[in-house]
Amino acid sequence: MKAPFIPNNAPFSDTQKAWISGFFAGMHSHMLKSSQAVDSSQARILHILYGTQTGNSESVANDAAEIAKSHGLVPSVKGLDEIEIAQFLSLEYVLIITSTYGDGEMPDNAEMLWDALSGSDVPALDKMKYSVLALGDTSYDKFCQAGIDWDNRLLALGAQRLLERVDCDIDYEEPAETWIAEAIPLMADGAEGAGLVVNVDSQAQVEKPAYHRKNPFPAKMLVNRLLTAENSSKETRHYEISLEGSGLSYEAGDALCVIPTNDPELVADITKAIGCSGEELEPVNDQHMTLTQALTEVFEIKLPGKEFLHEVANRSGDAELNELLEAQNKEKLADYLWGRDILDLLLQFPKMEFSAAEFLALLKPLQHRAYSISSSGKKYPESVHLTVASVRYDSFNRQHKGVCSTYLADLVDETTDVRIFFTPNKSFRVPEDNTLPVIMVGPGTGIAPFRAFLQERQIRNATGKNWLFFGDRNEATDFIYREELEDMKNQGILHKLDLAFSRDQEEKIYVQDRMQEHGEELFAWLEEGGYFFVCGDAYRMAKDVDRALFDIIAKYGNKSAIEAADYMNMLKKEKRYVRDVY
Ligand SMILES: Cc1cc2nc3c(=O)[nH]c(=O)nc-3n(C[C@H](O)[C@H](O)[C@H](O)COP(=O)(O)OP(=O)(O)OC[C@H]3O[C@@H](n4cnc5c(N)ncnc54)[C@H](O)[C@@H]3O)c2cc1C
Ligand SMILES: NC(=O)c1ccc[n+]([C@@H]2O[C@H](COP(=O)([O-])OP(=O)(O)OC[C@H]3O[C@@H](n4cnc5c(N)ncnc54)[C@H](OP(=O)(O)O)[C@@H]3O)[C@@H](O)[C@H]2O)c1
Ligand SMILES: Cc1cc2nc3c(=O)[nH]c(=O)nc-3n(C[C@H](O)[C@H](O)[C@H](O)COP(=O)(O)O)c2cc1C
Repeated sequence: MKAPFIPNNAPFSDTQKAWISGFFAGMHSHMLKSSQAVDSSQARILHILYGTQTGNSESVANDAAEIAKSHGLVPSVKGLDEIEIAQFLSLEYVLIITSTYGDGEMPDNAEMLWDALSGSDVPALDKMKYSVLALGDTSYDKFCQAGIDWDNRLLALGAQRLLERVDCDIDYEEPAETWIAEAIPLMADGAEGAGLVVNVDSQAQVEKPAYHRKNPFPAKMLVNRLLTAENSSKETRHYEISLEGSGLSYEAGDALCVIPTNDPELVADITKAIGCSGEELEPVNDQHMTLTQALTEVFEIKLPGKEFLHEVANRSGDAELNELLEAQNKEKLADYLWGRDILDLLLQFPKMEFSAAEFLALLKPLQHRAYSISSSGKKYPESVHLTVASVRYDSFNRQHKGVCSTYLADLVDETTDVRIFFTPNKSFRVPEDNTLPVIMVGPGTGIAPFRAFLQERQIRNATGKNWLFFGDRNEATDFIYREELEDMKNQGILHKLDLAFSRDQEEKIYVQDRMQEHGEELFAWLEEGGYFFVCGDAYRMAKDVDRALFDIIAKYGNKSAIEAADYMNMLKKEKRYVRDVY
């Protein structure tokens, strides 16, 4: 249910009054049952605004809305891109829930409002009362930076912080719940109807997925097929995972999360390196298990976390590592850690010995990995397909393997259950209007969601044109899904396919070079109402593609830099420029 925008300081318009009384009368899907009537014109609106890339913040925002209702508030849940700056400035009761992306940056849907709020002539927010919940991951240097930035900016603009910001690590559910439980009563304090015990109709609450991070679905692997050639410099694989018996469904554009287990060889090598047998029984998550089981199933044993690094620096007394761990040396530390895992560090300083309990206390929980789904749920309702590059590299005289990509490649067979759950990505969707053109830029594994998009357009008999920019290292070995794409071209589903193989010639050729070559036509597709989607590497490719798109709009749209930036913002606002980058 979408609420109309309701400023706090204005009398309610007829539409707004209608919405509010409808809300209280239980005319909408989220109905309230209350023995006491609330004067709708006095109802306090709580604006719950989320910044998200993969849906976690949105789901917390929806949870907050349910609790807000039970405190007599009228929640209005919106993405940070669904509100104009002028509207934002007039809000009174606000909760901001945002994740952080890239290198301490805003998620895509928060960027525009953030830029507007960062201007020098923004008026004081002396009416606003707010609190911020920041979602992030402590393995990134700029932990929860986007949330920190929002909090600092609102405070600097004179808004009143009702509750201290809470910064959440990957296990965000519990701290988020606590923040909601504390923030909502503060937001409701003094409001008409606050303190009412309002029972929210449980049937009408936002539906929670049956399977999630804490309760994944145990699925069977149906297909594990090499996509790249045997002699390729990389290994990309196609997987098909059965959804039989799950009742699960998905949309093209969603991601599938896989909870891996660790490589038994790595577990054995680490156990030996710390001087343990593996049979030590340890309390882990309210049960006792052997060190081997804990290292296999519960803890991240590849990527070294900060606590482990500090303990190694401490025990080894190594001057270099101690210096690298100083706050000003973050970049040098990242260089030092590139290609180095926990076992490398244990082998580098062999005199360190840990008891099983000491070692486990230094590790972070093993996390799921997300994968963009490469099939359409309409074409394949019984299975879900992934396109995954296996991470394998040699460094420090050992072969290293990415935890999840090689778990899928090497460890899963027909007898194994793969633990999965979906994360929806509501903005990364095939346009509802089947006549509009779609431009897709997806080098490497970035092709995954676009295979799904093309299947979806085919199933829908969409008449709109489709244009794919794909690239990888070498055409002979890395042109994955070649036959499927050529078939789609022959069938008139894929109208244009532009390829950039970076290593087939001396000079690198990338997808953005192909975009530039066809800039005039690309701009024409945008002018026809076209959508522009990007998937794959966030750190280099997506930034360069963004720059190329800007140049194309400026050049072929005959626009100044400011006009081109406005055009890009318009595309983002209309959700016609959307990214799924990692
Ligand atoms: C929304 C989303 C969608 C995604 N979709 C896809 C997808 O469709 N397909 C896909 O393949 N991936 C996708 N990913 C990435 C995926 O989630 C994993 O990050 C990836 O599979 C690597 O995980 P891993 O467990 O195998 O490796 P990890 O165990 O996490 O190891 C990766 C780490 O190894 C190190 N490393 C990697 N390569 C090298 C090297 N050459 N030299 C030295 N060190 C190196 C780096 O420290 C790197 O961070 C997606 C990610 C997100 C967030
Ligand atoms: N943030 C992350 O952790 C992250 C991001 C992306 C991928 N990955 C992982 O890396 C592995 C391989 O990924 P992948 O197959 O998607 O891609 P990839 O192998 O990294 O690259 C695919 C193609 O993109 C090219 N490329 C490199 N820099 C580019 C740029 N600035 N602009 C445009 N194209 C550029 C590559 O060229 P050259 O290599 O010849 O330069 C190659 O041709 C996977 O495990 C994936 O999960 C991790
Ligand atoms: C590519 C990528 C970059 C990220 N960068 C950061 C970061 O710089 N700082 C941080 O604290 N978290 C970072 N995160 C973690 C996310 O903020 C975290 O997973 C969050 O729960 C995602 O929430 P969302 O689904 O609402 O976007 C990053 C995650 C990904 C996949």
